[in-house]
Amino acid sequence: MAQPFNKNTAIGVLGAGTMGRGIAQIAATYGHPVYVYDTQPQALQAARDFLKRILKRQVEKGRLPAGEDAVILDRISFISGKFGPLARCKLIVEAIVEQLSVKQEVFGRLEEIIAPSAMLATNTSSLSVTSIAAGCAKPERVLGLHFFNPAPLLPLVEIIPGVNTDPAHVTAARALVDAWGKTTVLVKDTPGFIVNRVARPFYGEALRLYDEGVADAATIDWAMTEVGGFRMGPFTLMDLIGNDVNFKVTQTVYEAFYFDPRYRPSFTQQRMVEAGRLGRKAGRGYYAYGEDAERPEPTRDTALGQQVVDRIVAMLINEAIDAVFWQVASPADIDLAMTQGVNYPKGLLRWADELGLATVLARLEALQAEYGEDRYRPSPLLRRMARENQSFFS
Ligand code: NAI
Repeated sequence: MAQPFNKNTAIGVLGAGTMGRGIAQIAATYGHPVYVYDTQPQALQAARDFLKRILKRQVEKGRLPAGEDAVILDRISFISGKFGPLARCKLIVEAIVEQLSVKQEVFGRLEEIIAPSAMLATNTSSLSVTSIAAGCAKPERVLGLHFFNPAPLLPLVEIIPGVNTDPAHVTAARALVDAWGKTTVLVKDTPGFIVNRVARPFYGEALRLYDEGVADAATIDWAMTEVGGFRMGPFTLMDLIGNDVNFKVTQTVYEAFYFDPRYRPSFTQQRMVEAGRLGRKAGRGYYAYGEDAERPEPTRDTALGQQVVDRIVAMLINEAIDAVFWQVASPADIDLAMTQGVNYPKGLLRWADELGLATVLARLEALQAEYGEDRYRPSPLLRRMARENQSFFS
């Protein structure tokens, strides 16, 4: 049976990198004793220094009472070598290297020391939770808790039960993460979960428009922000995420879907990676960065901007509807994930309702007729709902 959690329940975090330190901060801020484990002592030191700085800044900004930063930091123990204190944790969240064999091996060793009621969670972005759990003697206590970067700031957490996960563990883990103040959505264990699947056309269709010469990067970014209302344009966002990271996610999702042409990566993005134009971190991506860098001017053509937005948004909506069709998550959770996880201006299914499903279907059918590509095939659910004049929320 799953144990209910409270503030005294010890929480383990495996991996002190970008994600692990953020998850540790969330749990310790809530009040748990937290044990952060890493094989690299220097990673632990870096995480400690980072958290000290971040928490101090929270106090300076008035987000934490004076002295609370030290209290929170004191709740976190940084450990290396033997697993030791992880034995007393009721939940261990793993955020180590994205390699199936390594995660399975570590989970196998953790199982030998943790309590029978303890749960193991993985923060994996691209592996199946079921495959990680398969390395365990008790896969029923393994689930996915997918946080977004930066974990303390982004509210969304995708909760992913594996095929063998005990539903009681899912309920308990979800209640805990909700108590931490996060927005949780329940997702079927499928490639990319909600966000990394549904968001693909934001990048993929933007690259396609660019590759076809419909508009340049600056114009597409202008269209998506000024006409579409998105917080950031696709090329600016790819430069921020890193073109190598974004390309890898696209490639992984494409392979995981058995090479469905809808997710096919763009040669342009691959060339950007090959050229070392990784984005902001490299000083050069689709745009140049640095003091003297100048931003190219967009073509402020409203009709062209609308065409760009209509096409990318139609593809995004189709992806969201297809996720409903394949039972990946509920319509409400899909809209919540895209607004809270990646700050979309509106839930895609609500957007579909507003446009009318027949309009979205007509846009996709026009693209499919023009290109003759399976990439533009409308979801069977979109066809059905448009035919029956249905909407998602009204
Ligand atoms: P990272 O590279 O920043 O940190 C990984 C840490 O794990 C390093 O400190 C490393 O020393 C440690 N480590 C490696 N092998 C270990 C082992 N066997 N035992 C203990 N510690 C070990 O990685 P990051 O970005 O934090 O990613 C971690 C996980 O979170 C991955 O599964 C990734 O896919 C996932 N993720 C990453 C996101 C991101 O934006 N960076 C977003 C959501 C999920």
